[in-house]
Amino acid sequence: MRHKISIIGAGFVGSTTAHWVAAKELGDIVLLDIVEGIPQGKALDLYEASPIEGFDARVIGTNDYADTANSDIIVVTSGAPRKPGMSREDLIKVNADITRACISSTVSLSPNATIIMVNNPLDAMTYLARDVSGFPKNRVFGQAGILDSARYRTFIAMEANVSVEDVQAMLMGGHGDEMVPLPRFSTIGGIPVTEFIPKDRLDAIVERTRKGGGEIVNLLKTGSAYYAPAAATAQMVEAVLRDKKRVIPCAAYLEGEYGLSDIYFGVPVVLGAGGVERIIELPLNDDEKALLQKSAAAVSSTIETLKKG
Ligand code: 2OP
Repeated sequence: MRHKISIIGAGFVGSTTAHWVAAKELGDIVLLDIVEGIPQGKALDLYEASPIEGFDARVIGTNDYADTANSDIIVVTSGAPRKPGMSREDLIKVNADITRACISSTVSLSPNATIIMVNNPLDAMTYLARDVSGFPKNRVFGQAGILDSARYRTFIAMEANVSVEDVQAMLMGGHGDEMVPLPRFSTIGGIPVTEFIPKDRLDAIVERTRKGGGEIVNLLKTGSAYYAPAAATAQMVEAVLRDKKRVIPCAAYLEGEYGLSDIYFGVPVVLGAGGVERIIELPLNDDEKALLQKSAAAVSSTIETLKKG
C-alpha cells in the first residue's frame, strides 16, 4: 500500500521535508501552499528529480486542500519564520491563525491521519493543533526534539572529533532557549560524553544548542533553518509509516508525566505506527528537574497567551 503524506506549507522547511520524504520513498507527497505556482513548481521539480535519484514517489503541488484527502500523515510547516532579534514566541499571533486554518482545512478530509507540527512557537502550535483537530493525543505531536538533539549531537561530535553516527544524546523541554540538553544521558559509542569533553566545554555546547535556532537565523538574516528541521521531520514521518518504534524526543501531550499536565512538551517517546506510543520517564536529578520546570514555565506561558487569543 502506498502511503500519502501531505505537507502544508511549501516554503524552505516544507519543500525540503518533501525532498527528504521522497528520497526515503516514504509515500506519495502532496505539497500545499496558498501561494499559487510555488507548490506546483517545487513539486514538479522534485518529481522530475526522481528518475535521476531513482525514488518512486508521486509528488504533486496544489493550492486545494481537497488534494490532501485521505492522507496518512499531515505535516504542518506553514507560518512565518523568525527574523534576527525575534524569539519563536513572537510568532504566536500570526502563526496561530495560520495553524487554525491549516488544521481545520485538513482534518475532516483525513480523519485518520497523524499530525506532525513543525511551525513555531512549536509546543503552543502543537497544543493548538490538538485542540482544533480533536484528534487523540497520540496522533498529534511536534517536531523539535530530534532537531535540537541533532544540533547537540553535531556540536558534541565536532568538539570530540568523532563521528556523528556514534553520538547519542537526549534533550528535553520546550523548543525555546530554555530547552534542556542532558549530558548525563548523552554518550559517544556508549561511553559517557563526560569521558571525552570537559565540563566547561560541555556547558558551552549546552548553551550553543539552546540558541542553535537563533544562530542560524542570525547567519541567514532572512529566515530560519530548514535542512535540519526538515530532516528531523522526515525521520518522524518514517518512524510512523514504517512503525520503527524510534526512541526520540518530541513534543508530546503530557497528562501527569514529569509532574506536568495539559501541556505539549519535549520528552523522550516511542514513536511508531500508533504515533506517540509511549512516553519515557527518565530518572532526573534535582538540577535537571529544576531546568525542566523552568522550560515548562516558559511553554505554559506561551500556551496561556494562545488561550487568551
Ligand atoms: C529552529 O530551531 C526553525 O525553530 C526552528 O531552527
